[in-house]
Amino acid sequence: MKAEKVVILAIESSCDDTSSAVIVDGILRSNVIASQKVHEEYGGVVPELASRAHQLNILPVVDTALKRAGVTKDEISAIAFTRGPGLLGSLLVGTSFAKGLALSLNIPMIDVNHLQGHVLAHFLSPAENDQKCVDDGTGLPHPSFPFLCLLVSGGNSQIVLVKNYNDMQIIGQTIDDAAGEAFDKCAKVLGLPYPGGPWIDKLAKLGDPDKYPFAKPNIAGYDYSFSGLKTSFLYTLRDLLKAHEVETIDELAAQIPNLREDLCASLQATVVDILMRKLKKAVKDLKINQVAVAGGVSANSALRQAFIDYGKRYNWTVFIPPFSFTTDNAAMIAQAGYFKYLDKDFCAIDEVPFAKTTI
Ligand code: KG4
Repeated sequence: MKAEKVVILAIESSCDDTSSAVIVDGILRSNVIASQKVHEEYGGVVPELASRAHQLNILPVVDTALKRAGVTKDEISAIAFTRGPGLLGSLLVGTSFAKGLALSLNIPMIDVNHLQGHVLAHFLSPAENDQKCVDDGTGLPHPSFPFLCLLVSGGNSQIVLVKNYNDMQIIGQTIDDAAGEAFDKCAKVLGLPYPGGPWIDKLAKLGDPDKYPFAKPNIAGYDYSFSGLKTSFLYTLRDLLKAHEVETIDELAAQIPNLREDLCASLQATVVDILMRKLKKAVKDLKINQVAVAGGVSANSALRQAFIDYGKRYNWTVFIPPFSFTTDNAAMIAQAGYFKYLDKDFCAIDEVPFAKTTI
Protein backbone atom coordinates (compact mmCIF):
# COMPACT_ATOMS: atom_id res chain seq x y z
CA MET A 1 0.00 0.00 0.00
CA LYS A 2 1.32 3.45 -0.92
CA ALA A 3 1.96 5.61 2.17
CA GLU A 4 -0.13 8.77 2.29
CA LYS A 5 1.84 11.89 1.47
CA VAL A 6 2.60 14.38 4.24
CA VAL A 7 1.46 17.89 3.34
CA ILE A 8 2.38 20.69 5.75
CA LEU A 9 0.83 24.12 5.30
CA ALA A 10 2.74 26.78 7.24
CA ILE A 11 1.82 30.29 8.30
CA GLU A 12 4.28 32.96 9.44
CA SER A 13 3.04 36.32 10.72
CA SER A 14 5.43 37.24 13.54
CA CYS A 15 6.34 40.74 12.35
CA ASP A 16 5.65 42.57 9.09
CA ASP A 17 5.73 39.77 6.53
CA THR A 18 2.67 37.62 5.89
CA SER A 19 3.92 34.32 4.57
CA SER A 20 2.63 30.87 3.78
CA ALA A 21 4.48 27.81 2.50
CA VAL A 22 3.77 24.20 1.63
CA ILE A 23 6.07 21.22 2.12
CA VAL A 24 5.07 17.90 0.55
CA ASP A 25 6.95 14.82 1.76
CA GLY A 26 9.88 16.95 2.88
CA ILE A 27 10.18 18.97 -0.36
CA LEU A 28 9.35 22.66 -0.37
CA ARG A 29 6.65 23.25 -2.97
CA SER A 30 5.81 26.92 -2.38
CA ASN A 31 6.84 29.89 -0.26
CA VAL A 32 4.76 33.04 -0.69
CA ILE A 33 5.64 36.27 1.12
CA ALA A 34 3.64 39.50 1.22
CA SER A 35 5.80 42.27 2.66
CA GLN A 36 4.15 45.32 4.17
CA LYS A 37 5.18 48.63 2.61
CA VAL A 38 2.93 50.58 4.99
CA HIS A 39 5.69 50.89 7.64
CA GLU A 40 8.28 52.58 5.42
CA GLU A 41 7.06 56.12 6.03
CA TYR A 42 7.27 55.61 9.81
CA GLY A 43 10.87 54.38 9.82
CA GLY A 44 9.95 51.19 11.70
CA VAL A 45 7.21 48.60 12.11
CA VAL A 46 3.94 49.98 13.55
CA PRO A 47 2.38 46.98 15.36
CA GLU A 48 -1.27 47.99 14.86
CA LEU A 49 -0.76 48.56 11.12
CA ALA A 50 1.10 45.25 10.86
CA SER A 51 -1.84 43.32 12.38
CA ARG A 52 -4.31 44.98 10.01
CA ALA A 53 -2.13 44.26 6.97
CA HIS A 54 -1.81 40.60 8.05
CA GLN A 55 -5.61 40.38 8.15
CA LEU A 56 -5.82 41.68 4.59
CA ASN A 57 -2.98 39.50 3.27
CA ILE A 58 -3.43 36.17 4.96
CA LEU A 59 -6.21 34.66 2.86
CA PRO A 60 -4.71 35.46 -0.58
CA VAL A 61 -1.23 34.45 0.62
CA VAL A 62 -2.38 31.04 1.90
CA ASP A 63 -4.50 30.53 -1.20
CA THR A 64 -1.55 31.32 -3.49
CA ALA A 65 0.78 29.04 -1.50
CA LEU A 66 -1.63 26.12 -1.92
CA LYS A 67 -2.16 26.82 -5.62
CA ARG A 68 1.58 27.13 -6.35
CA ALA A 69 2.20 23.88 -4.50
CA GLY A 70 -0.53 22.20 -6.52
CA VAL A 71 -2.39 20.90 -3.46
CA THR A 72 -5.95 21.39 -2.29
CA LYS A 73 -6.88 22.19 1.29
CA ASP A 74 -8.33 18.71 1.72
CA GLU A 75 -4.87 17.23 1.16
CA ILE A 76 -3.25 19.15 4.06
CA SER A 77 -1.99 16.81 6.82
CA ALA A 78 -1.31 19.52 9.45
CA ILE A 79 -0.97 23.29 9.83
CA ALA A 80 2.24 24.70 11.26
CA PHE A 81 2.16 28.26 12.56
CA THR A 82 4.57 30.67 14.22
CA ARG A 83 3.60 30.88 17.88
CA GLY A 84 6.33 33.35 18.88
CA PRO A 85 8.38 35.33 19.53
CA GLY A 86 7.11 38.37 17.69
CA LEU A 87 4.50 41.10 17.79
CA LEU A 88 1.50 39.78 19.68
CA GLY A 89 -1.13 41.34 17.40
CA SER A 90 0.62 39.99 14.30
CA LEU A 91 1.03 36.53 15.81
CA LEU A 92 -2.67 36.49 16.78
CA VAL A 93 -3.72 36.87 13.14
CA GLY A 94 -1.66 33.86 11.98
CA THR A 95 -2.53 31.76 15.02
CA SER A 96 -6.26 32.46 14.74
CA PHE A 97 -6.25 31.71 11.02
CA ALA A 98 -4.40 28.44 11.64
CA LYS A 99 -6.89 27.46 14.34
CA GLY A 100 -9.91 28.21 12.15
CA LEU A 101 -8.54 26.24 9.21
CA ALA A 102 -7.37 23.31 11.36
CA LEU A 103 -10.77 23.11 13.06
CA SER A 104 -12.70 23.25 9.81
CA LEU A 105 -10.51 20.58 8.19
CA ASN A 106 -10.25 18.53 11.38
CA ILE A 107 -6.46 18.26 11.16
CA PRO A 108 -3.71 18.80 13.79
CA MET A 109 -1.89 22.05 14.46
CA ILE A 110 1.84 22.38 15.07
CA ASP A 111 3.25 25.35 16.98
CA VAL A 112 6.67 26.54 15.83
CA ASN A 113 9.20 28.75 17.58
CA HIS A 114 10.18 31.42 15.06
CA LEU A 115 13.85 31.34 16.12
CA GLN A 116 14.06 27.56 15.77
CA GLY A 117 12.47 28.05 12.36
CA HIS A 118 15.35 30.31 11.27
CA VAL A 119 17.88 27.67 12.35
CA LEU A 120 15.95 24.83 10.68
CA ALA A 121 15.83 26.73 7.38
CA HIS A 122 19.15 24.96 6.81
CA PHE A 123 17.25 21.71 6.35
CA LEU A 124 14.94 22.96 3.60
CA SER A 125 14.94 20.94 0.42
CA PRO A 126 13.57 23.19 -2.30
CA ALA A 127 12.05 21.63 -5.38
CA GLU A 128 14.55 21.44 -8.24
CA ASN A 129 12.64 24.01 -10.23
CA ASP A 130 12.84 26.63 -7.44
CA GLN A 131 14.93 29.08 -9.45
CA LYS A 132 15.60 31.38 -6.50
CA CYS A 133 17.41 28.66 -4.56
CA VAL A 134 19.23 27.40 -7.61
CA ASP A 135 20.45 30.96 -8.30
CA ASP A 136 21.55 31.59 -4.74
CA GLY A 137 23.80 28.62 -4.22
CA THR A 138 24.64 25.14 -5.26
CA GLY A 139 21.64 23.41 -3.76
CA LEU A 140 21.26 23.29 -0.03
CA PRO A 141 23.70 21.10 1.89
CA HIS A 142 22.34 20.29 5.35
CA PRO A 143 24.46 20.46 8.50
CA SER A 144 24.65 17.42 10.75
CA PHE A 145 24.30 17.57 14.53
CA PRO A 146 25.72 19.14 16.57
CA PHE A 147 26.43 22.43 14.82
CA LEU A 148 26.68 26.08 15.81
CA CYS A 149 24.32 28.66 14.34
CA LEU A 150 24.82 32.41 14.45
CA LEU A 151 21.26 33.71 14.54
CA VAL A 152 21.20 37.39 13.66
CA SER A 153 18.06 39.39 12.99
CA GLY A 154 16.38 42.66 13.86
CA GLY A 155 15.51 41.37 17.32
CA ASN A 156 18.14 38.73 18.06
CA SER A 157 21.87 38.14 17.99
CA GLN A 158 22.77 34.81 19.44
CA ILE A 159 25.02 31.81 19.09
CA VAL A 160 22.95 28.65 19.21
CA LEU A 161 24.29 25.18 19.88
CA VAL A 162 22.02 22.98 17.76
CA LYS A 163 22.05 19.47 19.21
CA ASN A 164 19.01 18.24 17.30
CA TYR A 165 15.90 19.46 15.44
CA ASN A 166 14.18 20.08 18.74
CA ASP A 167 17.11 20.51 21.09
CA MET A 168 18.81 23.90 20.86
CA GLN A 169 20.74 25.86 23.46
CA ILE A 170 21.63 29.54 23.35
CA ILE A 171 25.25 29.78 24.47
CA GLY A 172 25.65 33.51 23.84
CA GLN A 173 23.35 36.42 23.07
CA THR A 174 23.21 40.17 22.96
CA ILE A 175 22.88 41.88 26.30
CA ASP A 176 21.30 44.96 24.67
CA ASP A 177 20.62 45.70 20.97
CA ALA A 178 20.58 43.13 18.19
CA ALA A 179 22.94 43.43 15.21
CA GLY A 180 20.04 44.23 12.85
CA GLU A 181 18.80 46.88 15.26
CA ALA A 182 22.26 48.51 15.22
CA PHE A 183 22.17 48.57 11.40
CA ASP A 184 18.63 49.94 11.31
CA LYS A 185 19.18 52.63 13.93
CA CYS A 186 22.46 53.88 12.43
CA ALA A 187 20.84 53.88 8.98
CA LYS A 188 18.03 56.02 10.38
CA VAL A 189 20.56 58.55 11.66
CA LEU A 190 21.99 58.72 8.12
CA GLY A 191 18.52 59.39 6.75
CA LEU A 192 18.28 56.01 4.97
CA PRO A 193 14.89 54.25 4.57
CA TYR A 194 13.64 51.45 6.84
CA PRO A 195 14.81 48.73 7.16
CA GLY A 196 18.29 50.19 6.99
CA GLY A 197 20.33 46.95 6.94
CA PRO A 198 20.09 46.35 3.19
CA TRP A 199 20.90 50.05 2.52
CA ILE A 200 24.00 49.92 4.71
CA ASP A 201 25.07 46.79 2.82
CA LYS A 202 24.57 48.54 -0.54
CA LEU A 203 26.41 51.76 0.36
CA ALA A 204 29.18 49.87 2.19
CA LYS A 205 30.24 48.32 -1.13
CA LEU A 206 31.37 51.81 -2.21
CA GLY A 207 33.07 52.79 1.05
CA ASP A 208 36.28 52.33 3.02
CA PRO A 209 35.79 49.88 5.95
CA ASP A 210 38.83 51.30 7.78
CA LYS A 211 37.88 54.97 7.53
CA TYR A 212 36.08 55.32 10.87
CA PRO A 213 37.29 53.17 13.79
CA PHE A 214 34.23 52.54 15.97
CA ALA A 215 34.26 51.21 19.52
CA LYS A 216 34.07 47.46 19.99
CA PRO A 217 32.59 45.84 23.11
CA ASN A 218 34.55 43.88 25.64
CA ILE A 219 32.04 41.40 27.04
CA ALA A 220 32.85 38.11 28.72
CA GLY A 221 31.96 34.70 27.25
CA TYR A 222 29.98 34.41 24.04
CA ASP A 223 27.62 37.33 24.68
CA TYR A 224 27.30 40.31 22.38
CA SER A 225 26.64 44.02 22.83
CA PHE A 226 25.83 46.56 20.12
CA SER A 227 24.62 49.59 22.06
CA GLY A 228 28.18 50.95 22.52
CA LEU A 229 28.78 50.74 18.78
CA LYS A 230 25.57 52.67 18.16
CA THR A 231 26.72 55.40 20.55
CA SER A 232 30.19 55.45 18.98
CA PHE A 233 28.59 55.88 15.54
CA LEU A 234 26.44 58.76 16.85
CA TYR A 235 29.38 60.49 18.56
CA THR A 236 31.51 60.20 15.41
CA LEU A 237 28.78 61.95 13.44
CA ARG A 238 28.23 64.54 16.15
CA ASP A 239 31.96 65.38 16.21
CA LEU A 240 32.10 65.62 12.40
CA LEU A 241 29.08 67.95 12.34
CA LYS A 242 30.72 70.13 14.96
CA ALA A 243 34.13 70.17 13.29
CA HIS A 244 32.58 71.17 9.94
CA GLU A 245 30.20 73.66 11.58
CA VAL A 246 27.10 72.21 9.91
CA GLU A 247 23.81 70.91 11.29
CA THR A 248 22.59 68.21 8.92
CA ILE A 249 24.02 65.04 7.41
CA ASP A 250 23.28 66.37 3.92
CA GLU A 251 25.36 69.50 4.61
CA LEU A 252 28.14 67.33 5.99
CA ALA A 253 27.99 64.97 2.99
CA ALA A 254 28.41 67.98 0.71
CA GLN A 255 31.72 68.72 2.47
CA ILE A 256 33.07 65.18 2.99
CA PRO A 257 33.17 63.08 -0.18
CA ASN A 258 31.93 59.51 0.29
CA LEU A 259 30.73 60.26 3.84
CA ARG A 260 27.73 57.91 3.93
CA GLU A 261 29.54 55.14 2.04
CA ASP A 262 32.57 55.22 4.37
CA LEU A 263 30.39 55.35 7.50
CA CYS A 264 28.35 52.38 6.26
CA ALA A 265 31.44 50.37 5.30
CA SER A 266 33.10 51.05 8.67
CA LEU A 267 29.93 50.22 10.63
CA GLN A 268 29.36 47.02 8.68
CA ALA A 269 32.97 45.88 9.09
CA THR A 270 32.73 46.50 12.85
CA VAL A 271 29.45 44.57 13.24
CA VAL A 272 30.82 41.64 11.23
CA ASP A 273 34.06 41.61 13.23
CA ILE A 274 32.17 41.63 16.56
CA LEU A 275 29.93 38.76 15.41
CA MET A 276 32.71 36.61 13.98
CA ARG A 277 35.17 36.96 16.89
CA LYS A 278 32.74 35.46 19.40
CA LEU A 279 31.70 32.77 16.98
CA LYS A 280 35.35 31.84 16.44
CA LYS A 281 35.81 31.56 20.20
CA ALA A 282 32.75 29.28 20.49
CA VAL A 283 33.96 27.07 17.62
CA LYS A 284 37.37 26.73 19.26
CA ASP A 285 36.09 26.07 22.79
CA LEU A 286 33.35 23.63 21.81
CA LYS A 287 35.40 21.98 19.06
CA ILE A 288 32.43 22.06 16.68
CA ASN A 289 33.44 23.15 13.21
CA GLN A 290 30.10 23.01 11.39
CA VAL A 291 28.94 26.61 11.48
CA ALA A 292 25.73 28.08 10.10
CA VAL A 293 24.30 31.58 9.89
CA ALA A 294 20.59 32.45 9.93
CA GLY A 295 18.15 35.35 10.30
CA GLY A 296 17.62 38.60 8.38
CA VAL A 297 21.16 39.91 8.88
CA SER A 298 22.55 36.75 7.26
CA ALA A 299 21.60 38.46 3.98
CA ASN A 300 24.47 40.87 4.63
CA SER A 301 27.13 40.43 1.95
CA ALA A 302 30.10 41.17 4.24
CA LEU A 303 28.87 38.67 6.85
CA ARG A 304 28.36 36.02 4.18
CA GLN A 305 31.87 36.69 2.85
CA ALA A 306 33.29 36.52 6.39
CA PHE A 307 31.74 33.06 6.77
CA ILE A 308 33.41 31.92 3.56
CA ASP A 309 36.78 33.43 4.64
CA TYR A 310 36.68 32.02 8.17
CA GLY A 311 35.62 28.67 6.76
CA LYS A 312 38.70 28.57 4.56
CA ARG A 313 41.08 29.95 7.18
CA TYR A 314 39.96 27.90 10.18
CA ASN A 315 38.72 24.79 8.41
CA TRP A 316 35.03 25.27 9.21
CA THR A 317 32.27 23.75 7.15
CA VAL A 318 29.95 26.72 6.67
CA PHE A 319 26.25 26.85 5.89
CA ILE A 320 24.94 30.07 4.40
CA PRO A 321 21.23 30.17 3.50
CA PRO A 322 19.94 31.30 0.09
CA PHE A 323 18.73 34.92 0.28
CA SER A 324 15.10 33.84 0.06
CA PHE A 325 15.42 32.03 3.42
CA THR A 326 17.26 34.74 5.34
CA THR A 327 14.42 37.13 6.20
CA ASP A 328 11.09 36.01 7.66
CA ASN A 329 9.44 33.29 5.60
CA ALA A 330 7.00 30.45 6.11
CA ALA A 331 9.24 27.88 4.39
CA MET A 332 11.34 27.60 7.56
CA ILE A 333 8.16 27.25 9.65
CA ALA A 334 6.98 24.48 7.34
CA GLN A 335 10.34 22.71 7.73
CA ALA A 336 10.21 22.91 11.54
CA GLY A 337 6.57 21.78 11.34
CA TYR A 338 7.50 18.84 9.13
CA PHE A 339 10.03 17.56 11.69
CA LYS A 340 7.46 17.93 14.46
CA TYR A 341 4.84 16.16 12.34
CA LEU A 342 7.14 13.15 11.93
CA ASP A 343 7.41 13.05 15.75
CA LYS A 344 3.61 13.50 16.04
CA ASP A 345 4.37 16.56 18.16
CA PHE A 346 1.09 18.50 17.82
CA CYS A 347 -0.30 21.33 19.93
CA ALA A 348 -3.69 21.98 21.49
CA ILE A 349 -6.26 23.98 19.56
CA ASP A 350 -6.41 26.57 22.35
CA GLU A 351 -2.65 27.36 22.23
CA VAL A 352 -1.94 31.08 22.56
CA PRO A 353 0.90 33.06 20.95
CA PHE A 354 3.88 34.34 22.93
CA ALA A 355 5.49 37.73 22.27
CA LYS A 356 8.70 36.67 23.99
CA THR A 357 9.96 33.12 23.93
CA THR A 358 13.45 31.88 23.89
CA ILE A 359 14.70 29.17 21.57
O1 KG4 B 1 14.92 38.07 10.57
P1 KG4 B 1 14.36 39.35 10.09
O2 KG4 B 1 13.75 39.39 8.72
O3 KG4 B 1 13.25 39.92 11.03
C1 KG4 B 1 13.24 39.95 12.39
O4 KG4 B 1 14.11 40.56 13.01
O5 KG4 B 1 12.28 39.36 12.89
O6 KG4 B 1 15.54 40.43 10.19
C2 KG4 B 1 15.36 41.76 9.83
C3 KG4 B 1 16.67 42.48 10.03
C4 KG4 B 1 16.55 43.99 9.91
O7 KG4 B 1 17.23 44.57 10.99
C5 KG4 B 1 17.24 44.28 8.58
O8 KG4 B 1 17.83 45.57 8.52
C6 KG4 B 1 18.30 43.22 8.57
O9 KG4 B 1 17.62 42.06 9.02
N1 KG4 B 1 18.83 42.98 7.21
C7 KG4 B 1 20.11 43.26 6.89
C8 KG4 B 1 20.24 42.96 5.51
N2 KG4 B 1 19.03 42.49 5.06
C9 KG4 B 1 18.19 42.51 6.13
N3 KG4 B 1 21.12 43.75 7.61
C10 KG4 B 1 22.31 43.94 6.99
N4 KG4 B 1 22.51 43.67 5.68
C11 KG4 B 1 21.52 43.18 4.91
N5 KG4 B 1 21.74 42.92 3.62
